[in-house]
Amino acid sequence: MSSAEIYKEIILDYYRHPRNYGKLEKTDGSARETNPLCGDDVEIQFSVADGKFGEIRYSGKGCAISQASTSMLTELAKGKQVEWVKELSKEDVFKMLGNPELGPARVKCALLGMKALKVAAYGYLGSKFEENNGSDS
Ligand code: FES
Repeated sequence: MSSAEIYKEIILDYYRHPRNYGKLEKTDGSARETNPLCGDDVEIQFSVADGKFGEIRYSGKGCAISQASTSMLTELAKGKQVEWVKELSKEDVFKMLGNPELGPARVKCALLGMKALKVAAYGYLGSKFEENNGSDS
C-alpha cells in the first residue's frame, strides 16, 4: 500500500468513526463554519483549562475530507495552549491529511474545520482580553 493509500484509509476511518464527535454542555468557545457551495457545515466547541484546550468536540455533516480533517484537528488541539491556533497553518492541515492532491473545492473542504477552530479560539482569546483589560480602563 502506498503512503497516499494509507492516508486515504486513515481519512475514511476518521469519517466513519469520527473522534470527538458530539456536543458539550458547557463551552468556553465555539464556532460554526459552512461551505455554501455544498451545504457542508461543522461546529467546533471547546472548554478551556489553564489556558489550554480541555474538552473539544465537533459536529456537523459533510464530505469525508471536511469531517476527517475536523476530527483530526480536535485531537491535535486537545491539551494545547489556545494560543497555539495562531501558529496553525493550512500547511499543517495538509500535512495532517498526508498532503493529498486537492483541487480548489477540496482545499476548502480540508480547511473548513481549521477555520471553525480559529474563529472559535480567536473569539475566546478576544473575550479573555476584554475581561483582563476592560476593568482597568
Ligand atoms: Fe463540502 Fe467537502 S464537499 S466541504
